Amino acid sequence: MVSRSAAVLGMCLAAVVAFRWSAEMAERRPVHKRVWMVQLSSDEYLPGVLTLDFSMKKVASKYALVVMHPRDALSDATMAALRRRGIATKAITMLRAAKTYTGFDARFNHAWTKLLPHGMTEYDRVVELDADMVALQNADELMEMRLEPATMAATHACVCNPKQLAHYPADFRPENCAYTAQHARPATAHLPEHAVPGRFGLALPNGGLQVIDPDAGTFRRLLAVLANATLVASFSHAEQNALRLVFAGRWVALPWVYNGLYTMREAHQPIWNDSLVKIVHYIIEKPWDDALQEHSHLETYRWWWRLQKERLRFEQNMARVSDEVR
Ligand SMILES: *[C@@H]1O[C@H](CO)[C@@H](O)[C@H](O)[C@H]1NC(C)=O
Ligand SMILES: *[C@@H]1O[C@H](CO)[C@@H](O)[C@H](O)[C@H]1NC(C)=O
Repeated sequence: MVSRSAAVLGMCLAAVVAFRWSAEMAERRPVHKRVWMVQLSSDEYLPGVLTLDFSMKKVASKYALVVMHPRDALSDATMAALRRRGIATKAITMLRAAKTYTGFDARFNHAWTKLLPHGMTEYDRVVELDADMVALQNADELMEMRLEPATMAATHACVCNPKQLAHYPADFRPENCAYTAQHARPATAHLPEHAVPGRFGLALPNGGLQVIDPDAGTFRRLLAVLANATLVASFSHAEQNALRLVFAGRWVALPWVYNGLYTMREAHQPIWNDSLVKIVHYIIEKPWDDALQEHSHLETYRWWWRLQKERLRFEQNMARVSDEVR
């Protein structure tokens, strides 16, 4: 009984602290100057983007999702699919660096462009997301948290290398991973004030979710890194290495719940809690490629498929309604 009431007290305290965190960090900015941003550089990721957009609407985010896409990269059908759903688009020019990844890591060649929002000074706040993410709970506090000048917020990359990829850097080991450090105190691992500081371990932010206050000076520094062939040749993880360099010692670490890598459900089972995930991230393999769909062997893939099916049902119903009105 004693431990039970202690646990309840702990939960109440955590709720109070979490509330204070969001109240203190809250900042008033015009809604239209704050956006979620996702890159869509080929038609194949369209289901990811549509389901991400649907998930943001389902959790009632106050903020719009903007799809940035390279000029002429998307088919007319894809552009029309975005337009029909009222999703804002923004034509961009891809960022290139003095390094081209090949083989398995060719997926990183599009990743440099994820740095582009740092230079989008027409916005006050951009929260950049990957197309292989969905929101399970409202995360609007990321739009409202206060950031010091020349900083950004992100979650730590999980550097456990759970898929044991042979070409990953040798220091990608569980003992260097910020989330391993939290296994001893799982109850607080989801709380912002208990996030492991950005300096910990390999100090590598995951580039899949970036809380950005666009700034011309920071963007120039990022571009200078991308143009430096010596530096870029040493990078194993594209934009994440550039972020680590430019925001060294200054980036603010967020708790794992804002960028819940699906691989962490196993690799960091002690801290993972399904009901706490706000945004889930399908790194490497994609749920839409899983033929088993909502019967997938992976629980986290089933979440994506349930959202996808819900979106399709919702859109069919909307189409039916608009037919009736006409
Ligand atoms: C590239 O970066 C390295 C390491 O920081 C630095 O020594 C070198 O001067 C840079 N090169 C250029 C052209 O800026
Ligand atoms: C997971 O989080 C929920 C919601 O806060 C909580 O009720 C539950 O006890 C947690 N589960 C574990 C195993 O900690």
